[in-house]
Amino acid sequence: MQGSANLNLMIKAARKAGRALVKDFREVENLQVSSKGPGDFVSKADREAERIIKEELRGARPTYGWLGEETGEEAGEDPTRRWIVDPLDGTTNFLHGLPHWAVSIALEHKGEVVAGVVFDAAKDELYYAEKGLGAFMNESRLRVSGRRHMIEALFATGVPFGGRSTLPATLQDLARLMPVCAGVRRFGSAALDLAYVASGRYDGYWERGIHAWDIAAGLILVKEAGGFVGPVRAERGIFESNSVIAANGELFEPLCKIIRDVN
Ligand code: IPD
Repeated sequence: MQGSANLNLMIKAARKAGRALVKDFREVENLQVSSKGPGDFVSKADREAERIIKEELRGARPTYGWLGEETGEEAGEDPTRRWIVDPLDGTTNFLHGLPHWAVSIALEHKGEVVAGVVFDAAKDELYYAEKGLGAFMNESRLRVSGRRHMIEALFATGVPFGGRSTLPATLQDLARLMPVCAGVRRFGSAALDLAYVASGRYDGYWERGIHAWDIAAGLILVKEAGGFVGPVRAERGIFESNSVIAANGELFEPLCKIIRDVN
């Protein structure tokens, strides 16, 4: 795919941060891990990866705004564009030596994500998409799965850690969904959960209590691969409600029905 200059910049930044993370992976004793709350960790690796991405992106586009997991929100001179970045999505996996984590970078324009990159550096899988140009993993075009029946569908979710208030509803979701589908996975990286929906590995994914930086890039991957995305609370936006449902076109409505019926 012939991407825009912005997409190429995002890919360059994701690869650079990914290379730095691969060097730190499984070197946990040197990572100065601290906790932001129960089950919520940050390390030298997250901070360094965000520094690398910020330097690349803000260096090249100084007027764009910024929302990053580790450094927070900064307004830009151009109020219509901002980068949304999770330098290391799947921090707990990373710190436990599990090779399932990713760099996630999105570009938002007038409130809509228009480009996204998710880089699974441990497996060298680069997912990227741009509005109207499709979604890809390395050189291959992505398509969501074609499964039509809940009973054969495999879903993913995130189970809230640290006693978050969304835990009871998530447990209810699981109790309602498990008996009618093929299975539910919880691998610990929302960005990769969405990339896997885009590539047809999962048929759908939902999560309550999720942040914009975890999912922004993955949302456009799913849409450009032919899938659907929406919030759990239909009256609010995905980022505003901190919730997301994503699936192929056949299973989006049935999945929404099950998840949205839970309070
Ligand atoms: C986490 C992962 C996980 C999801 C959590 C997120 P982080 O992101 O995406 O899958 O269930 O809600 O916080 O903290 O590793 O960047």
